[in-house]
Amino acid sequence: MNPPPQHIAIIMDGNGRWAQHKGLPRIVGHQHGVEAADAIVTTAREFGIPYLTLFAFSDENWGRPREEVEQLMQLLADFLRTKRDKMIANGVRLATIGETDRLPVTVQHSLAETIEATAAGTSLTLILALSYGARAEICRAVRRAMTAGISEITPDQLSAALDTAAYPDPDLLIRTSGEYRISNYLLWQLAYTELYFTDILWPDFSPEHLREAIAAYQRRERRFGRVTA
Ligand code: FPP
Repeated sequence: MNPPPQHIAIIMDGNGRWAQHKGLPRIVGHQHGVEAADAIVTTAREFGIPYLTLFAFSDENWGRPREEVEQLMQLLADFLRTKRDKMIANGVRLATIGETDRLPVTVQHSLAETIEATAAGTSLTLILALSYGARAEICRAVRRAMTAGISEITPDQLSAALDTAAYPDPDLLIRTSGEYRISNYLLWQLAYTELYFTDILWPDFSPEHLREAIAAYQRRERRFGRVTA
């Protein structure tokens, strides 16, 4: 049995289809998606998982209809406002990866305030990937390394220049909604990550589903390219 994962990364997919199946507007799916995310943060913390990275908004998501982008930004702002006290009380520390300077200024301020207010949290680091794309992140890392005068970049040096420099690579990636893609998420960091796909649509993804994913991960044999003894 593997020990529990130290870092779980999630692609929270299927909000739109969840709403569509119920004949509801897509935004209702996203609203339920936020509540599912909140429950998963709580459960991950209870399970003693130190790092959780949620793909909340991709750099490609800017291409969605303007109304949906605005609604998603509003949901993010509401999430930060309504969950801040709970995060502080539970020792959840908020962090972000991605080009957050592209987000609306009000959201940037809310993020900065919440990051500061939760900075002393020690039970779980919640990393929101916002305006995030892995290829752009890798290009940023290369530029940072070049600016620092590094010409022959090693894997360790590239890792240290990524947005995720302060965190271990994910042990487990979960993608919901029956799609079998990585979608430009943490491409570098997922090199040896165990992948777990489920048909459950994100708003229906419950603490019990998280427990099942972790149990499946713990049964996997991780060889990291080597042979077993
Ligand atoms: C995928 O559903 C999800 C997103 C585009 C990201 C939005 C995520 C949330 C609202 C939940 C978490 C948010 C926070 C702030 C923690 P989709 O619209 O791609 O679904 P579809 O593939 O069925 O259309």
